[in-house]
Amino acid sequence: MPPSYGTKDYWDARFQHEDNYEWLLPADSLNAVIRVALSSRHQSQGANGSCAPQILHIGCGSSDLSFQLRDLVASPRQVTNVDYSATAVQKCRQREAAALSATTPDGSGGGGGSDVGMRWETADLLDAESIARLAGGRVCQSGSPSSADGGEDGPFYFDVVADKSTCDAISITEDIPVRLPFISPRDAQKQTGNDDNDEKTERKTELVQPVPLLAVHMAVLTPPRTGRWCAISYSDDRFSFLDSDNVSGGGGGSKKVVGDEGVHGELLERGFPDPRRFWRVERRERVTVAPSGTTTGSGGHVVHQPEIAYWLWVLGRTEEVVL
Ligand SMILES: C[S@@+](CC[C@H](N)C(=O)[O-])C[C@H]1O[C@@H](n2cnc3c(N)ncnc32)[C@H](O)[C@@H]1O
Repeated sequence: MPPSYGTKDYWDARFQHEDNYEWLLPADSLNAVIRVALSSRHQSQGANGSCAPQILHIGCGSSDLSFQLRDLVASPRQVTNVDYSATAVQKCRQREAAALSATTPDGSGGGGGSDVGMRWETADLLDAESIARLAGGRVCQSGSPSSADGGEDGPFYFDVVADKSTCDAISITEDIPVRLPFISPRDAQKQTGNDDNDEKTERKTELVQPVPLLAVHMAVLTPPRTGRWCAISYSDDRFSFLDSDNVSGGGGGSKKVVGDEGVHGELLERGFPDPRRFWRVERRERVTVAPSGTTTGSGGHVVHQPEIAYWLWVLGRTEEVVL
């Protein structure tokens, strides 16, 4: 991906003209792993009590994945689609409204107002306030009290994160200024506009690599132990900073503790949470799109074509809560 893919301006301009585009793989390419993640959620006592499982679709763009996800759950309100491009979000919302109108005889879309469709949010996944807003979602429609309804005290969580190449776009975003020691965005509002507090606690701004920051933010939004992050990436290295053996040095100190795509020891010492505390790689699988082969060019010479393959990643949440 060229560097411009890591900027919001690029995506905003692109979505002005683009109505429907699928990155890397077809929209149904995550269905099987998400089904498994949802079924294991049913078998466990999830953090949202009796709330139906919730899916967070990150970087929805103009993909049909949103509509695939809606078909995997009982209620469209179980799917929250997020993008930082308001244009993309607005276009997707309009597509859904048009599809709903087309399925009701009177064209009303069911008469249920905005509640009949999926949830669509404009949010920057690397921004603490956006994450705090998503974490404050009260979207449970199970009819029975649950933490997600506000029926019980406790955080609201998304059970599954669906990510089709959004981690790739985020990987080429410039490093993000983050105040350290890190405070969970669930508490971000308490910190907003309270610079005095930062001075007292000596919080300092440091630059953090975007994918490890995304990993910590997704850990804030997902339930310890049962949460899953299902991603398609073009890179076999996308989440290698989560490998437990990706440790050099040891014995503390300011040595680099994870690879070039990861977090450095100095940042961990300054209070950035190690993403390996929250996620482990459960599955990393090559998905071949086109096998390698040869064709004969116009001059009769043989042209070798390399295999085209992408990567399916499933990350599992550990027991640890992000504080
Ligand atoms: C490579 S496209 C993938 C789009 C879609 N998932 C697909 O498979 O076709 C990356 C998407 O991530 C969105 N994105 C990039 N950085 C983001 C961020 N920090 N917060 C929210 N969305 C972001 C872009 O606007 C874009 O829609």
